[in-house]
Amino acid sequence: MCGIIGCVGHGTETTDVLLDGLSTLDYRGYDSAGVALSNGTVDVVKRSGAIEDLVSAVEASPPTGPVGIGHTRWSTHGPPTDENAHPHVDCPGEVAVVHNGIIENYEALRERLRAAGHTFESDTDTEVIPHLIESERDDGADPETAVRRAVERLEGSFAVAAVLADSDAIFAARRDSPLVLGIDDGGDRRRYYLASDVPAFREYTDRVVYLDDGEFARLTPEDWTVTTLAGDRVEKPVDTVEWDPEETGKAGYDHFMAKEINEQPRALRQCLSERVDELDGEVSIGDLAYLNPRGVQLVAAGTSYHAALYGAQLFRAAGVPATAYLAHEYATGTPPIGDELVIGVTQSGETADTLSALREASARGARTLAVTNVVGSTAARECDDAFYIKAGPEIGVAATKTFASQLAALNTLTIGMVPSKDDREAIAALRDLPADVQQVLDESNAAAVAEQYLDSEAYFFIGRGLQYPVALEGALKMKEITYKHAEGFAAGELKHGPLALVTSETPVFAIVTGDGERAQKTIGNVKEVEARDAPVVAVTDGASDVSRYADHVLSIPESSPQTAAVLANVQLQLAAYHTAAKLGRPIDKPRNLAKSVTVE
Ligand code: F6R
Repeated sequence: MCGIIGCVGHGTETTDVLLDGLSTLDYRGYDSAGVALSNGTVDVVKRSGAIEDLVSAVEASPPTGPVGIGHTRWSTHGPPTDENAHPHVDCPGEVAVVHNGIIENYEALRERLRAAGHTFESDTDTEVIPHLIESERDDGADPETAVRRAVERLEGSFAVAAVLADSDAIFAARRDSPLVLGIDDGGDRRRYYLASDVPAFREYTDRVVYLDDGEFARLTPEDWTVTTLAGDRVEKPVDTVEWDPEETGKAGYDHFMAKEINEQPRALRQCLSERVDELDGEVSIGDLAYLNPRGVQLVAAGTSYHAALYGAQLFRAAGVPATAYLAHEYATGTPPIGDELVIGVTQSGETADTLSALREASARGARTLAVTNVVGSTAARECDDAFYIKAGPEIGVAATKTFASQLAALNTLTIGMVPSKDDREAIAALRDLPADVQQVLDESNAAAVAEQYLDSEAYFFIGRGLQYPVALEGALKMKEITYKHAEGFAAGELKHGPLALVTSETPVFAIVTGDGERAQKTIGNVKEVEARDAPVVAVTDGASDVSRYADHVLSIPESSPQTAAVLANVQLQLAAYHTAAKLGRPIDKPRNLAKSVTVE
C-alpha cells in the first residue's frame, strides 16, 4: 500500500531523509514515488517505477528546502505513470499533497473545481486535494485553515500531508488510514517527522505520537501540535517504540523473508515470555478480563485468517463456541452478537477489512479484542483491548514470523481465558516451541525438496484439524511468492473434487502429525494421491508411518498437536521461500501485493 514520509528541521538534508524514508517504506508495495520540498516555492520530483528512478531524477535536479513530504504510490485510481505519482500540486504549483486511502467523492469535487477553472494533470482521486486548498487560499484562508477546510470536504479514507510554498509547516490529517509523528526534540535541535509507518523514521527517533481518526497535525521547525479538525487542541501522549532500527535491516540475509523466518525462535520467545511461566507451567494473559467467554468470533484476512481458523479450533476444543470469519465477508450473514467476544487477528492492525468488521462488531455491542503486532495501530486503539503478539517489525510482504506468533498468542489466550487441568502438556509444548522451531530451521531439507519441483505446474497442500489452516497457509505462501498455482485443502475434501487436478506434475504436501485417527485418515488421502502418481512431500513428526508413502519427508520434532502446526508451517515457509529463490522471484515484494492493505 502507499507510504507517506515527511520531515521538518533537517535543513539541506531533508531530501536525503525523505528518500531514505521512502526506501524503508518500499516493503509496503509501490509502483511510483515522489517528493516535494517547500522553500518559498514548492519543488516536486516524482517518477513511476522504482525508488532508484526517483533518486536519479532527484540527483539530476535536486529539490531543496527544510520542509518536505514524500510518497510511495500503489495504484488505485489510474495506472502507475509519472503524472499519477504523488505529490500532486495545485494550478500554480504552490501546494503539494500526498495521500493514502480513497477519496470517495473525488469525481463530484473535481467537476466542481473544473467548472471553477482548475486544471487536472492526473487520473487520481488525490489531485482534488491541492486544488481544494488552492481554492480556499484564493478565498483568503491562511495555509492551516485552507488545509483544514479542504480536508473537511473529503469523504472516504485518508492520511493526507500537505506543504505550501509560503509556509514552513507540514499539515496532516487522518481518517481510517494510519499516520504517526516522530518527535526528536532532545538537545539543541528539533526535528519532526510524519509517516504512515514508524520504520520510515525510526533511525532518527524512537518517540512517536499516533494520530487518531479526525485529528489534524501541524509540524514546524519549532514545534508540533495536534488538534481536532474543528481546531480544538488534543493532548497526545508521546510513546516510545520498543524495537531497534537494526530490526528493520536484512542482517546479512538475501531477503527479509529469510531473515524473518529465521527470527521465529526469538519472536516466539518474546511472545511467550511473561505469559508462559517456565517453572510452574502457568499461563497469564495480563489484565484481560475475558474468563470463560460465552462465545468467540474471530475476524481476519489472508494469513491472519488462517491463524483465526486455527484459533477458532482452539476455542472450540476448550468448549467455547467459536467461528472464524473472513473480515470482508463478516457483515453479510453473520449471526447476531450477544455478549460474545470478537477477536480481530491482524499483524498490522491497519487492514481495512478487519477494522471494518471490528467496527461492525462494536456497533452491535460486542466486546472487541485486537490480536496484533503493532503497538498503537488502529485495531489496537479502537478495540476494547489489545493482545500484542510481540514478533518485532515484519518487513517482508509475505507474513511469516507474525503467523507463528499469532498461533502462539492464540494458544496463550485460549489457555488463559479457558483454563483447564488438561493444559499442562500444551503449556510444556509452548515453552519448548522456540527451541523446536530452531531445530527445524537448523535441520530442514526444504531447499533440496524445493529444487526437485521447480517445474511443477501446481502445488497442493493437505491437512486435517489444526493442520488444515497450515495447509491453507502453506499454499498461500507458495502462490504469493513463487507465482505458481498452489491450493490448500482439508485432506478429507480432496476426493470430493480437487483430486481431479492431481497428476504426476503436482506435488502434494501432506501435513501428518501424531498417529491418531486424524493422522491415519490423512495417510489414507496420501495413498489416494500416490495412486495418481503425484509426488508426496510428508511434513511429519515421525509418529505415524506416513513416510512410507512419501517421496520426501520434511521432519519436525514431536510436540503437541497445537505446536506441531507452528513447526509444520516453518517447513512450508522454507519450501516456498527456496522455490521462489530458485525461480528468481522478487521475494520481499511480490507483484501486485502490499504489506498493509488499507483499502477495502
Ligand atoms: C500474506 C499476508 C496477507 C496478510 C493480510 C492481513 O502473506 O501477509 O495475507 O495476512 O493482508 O494482514 P494483517 O494481518 O496485517 O491484517
